[in-house]
Amino acid sequence: MGNATDHLWMHFTRMASYRDGEVPTIVRGEGAYVWDAQGRRYLDGLAGLFVVNAGHGRTELAEAAAKQAAELAFFPLWSYAHPAAIELAERIAALTPGDLNRIFFTTGGSEAVEAAWKLARAYYKRVGKPTKHKVVSRFIAYHGTSMGALSITGLPSIKSDFEPLVPGGIKVPNTNFYRAPEHGDDLEAFGRWAADEIARAIEREGPDTVAAVFLEPVQNSGGCFPPPPGYFQRVREICDEYDVLLVSDEVICSWGRLGAYFGAERYGYQPDIITTAKALTSGYSPLGAMIASDRLIEPFLAEQGMFAHGVTFGGHPVSCAVALANLDIFAREDLIGHVRSNEDAFRSTLERLSDLPIVGDIRGDGYFYGIELVKDKATRETFDDAESERLLRGFLSTALFQAGLYCRADDRGDPVVQLAPPLIAEQPQFDEMEQILRAVLTEAWQRL
Ligand SMILES: Cc1ncc(COP(=O)(O)O)c(C=O)c1O
Repeated sequence: MGNATDHLWMHFTRMASYRDGEVPTIVRGEGAYVWDAQGRRYLDGLAGLFVVNAGHGRTELAEAAAKQAAELAFFPLWSYAHPAAIELAERIAALTPGDLNRIFFTTGGSEAVEAAWKLARAYYKRVGKPTKHKVVSRFIAYHGTSMGALSITGLPSIKSDFEPLVPGGIKVPNTNFYRAPEHGDDLEAFGRWAADEIARAIEREGPDTVAAVFLEPVQNSGGCFPPPPGYFQRVREICDEYDVLLVSDEVICSWGRLGAYFGAERYGYQPDIITTAKALTSGYSPLGAMIASDRLIEPFLAEQGMFAHGVTFGGHPVSCAVALANLDIFAREDLIGHVRSNEDAFRSTLERLSDLPIVGDIRGDGYFYGIELVKDKATRETFDDAESERLLRGFLSTALFQAGLYCRADDRGDPVVQLAPPLIAEQPQFDEMEQILRAVLTEAWQRL
């Protein structure tokens, strides 16, 4: 094996940090664990990157891929179809909430988000509201990296290099209740306020210019912000009032992550579009999808109508076959039910960490948690940039990994550690996470 730093350009990676060190190289996975090139074992506390929901080492998914590749390796969905895409679209439509019955396949999440924004624009042009084109999304939210998706993303640090971006990306507050002390302890009122901020943004921009609102069920970036009770119900009302599409960006939150096939189902709201990717195949092959309601495809079904958009590998036969086999596993092993019956145990195991002085907040749902780190628990004071740099980049990420836990120490918002294990994880894995985090966070505190 050659050297990882010679030719490989890693994503979102400070390459210089590996100048004198070795790039962790993962060679194998089984269940909730992966092994590196030196044979060391790690608990995969992030399911790869919120991807490997069914767990590693599923030979039946590898076999489904091989079988499909042998039978029909590739054919596009451009004016033609293949059985795996037809069957998968039908399976997904049966699982989605309400009338989200149209599946537009992509190869990943950014493309799904991009397709959703393009559909929103094209739809409103066809129904006689051609000026509706802007999108509303939340501060610190991550929605992908292609130029449109990046415009929707609310993280200035990953946008500035690429500006000017696509115009029309409007930002509103997220639902970080821990950082909203002015709202006291009234979570519901806070949720109402946060939702109404969307209405105010639409008013400010002009309702006839706004096409869609993009929200994750639980916002990932910033460290798992679940929606306050009533938040999405209020957002739905606002979207109806202003005729704006509600896009549920479930690239992370679908396929069991929150103990339901879709986050919208878990929180009881009806989106107009769901964007998904990642765990649709549990990562055994790349695939994404934009799932649209019946109403949205309607104008494109007219004579000579067409959604003038596509990508060569969208709905790749191998990926669709893998997704079907993945959904078979979900059904056979009731992975959703498994998350439901274990999520309280996951939460209470992580909550044991709240006795540590560095742990400020533990939040999330299902198998999706963020632990916010603070300098002062009482005042909730966070770390300054230099401390954050020293703590997260300089120590935590590597120390956790060296201790046998792959997870994410993230400072795109306030510093957090994020956990999203494969859905097969159970109490022994929860305990292992807690023990490693306890030891490493204790050391981090001493180093401060
Ligand atoms: C909510 C959300 N949307 C979009 C994306 C982009 O997906 P991809 O990396 O597959 O392009 C991500 C990726 O993490 C995401 O979390």
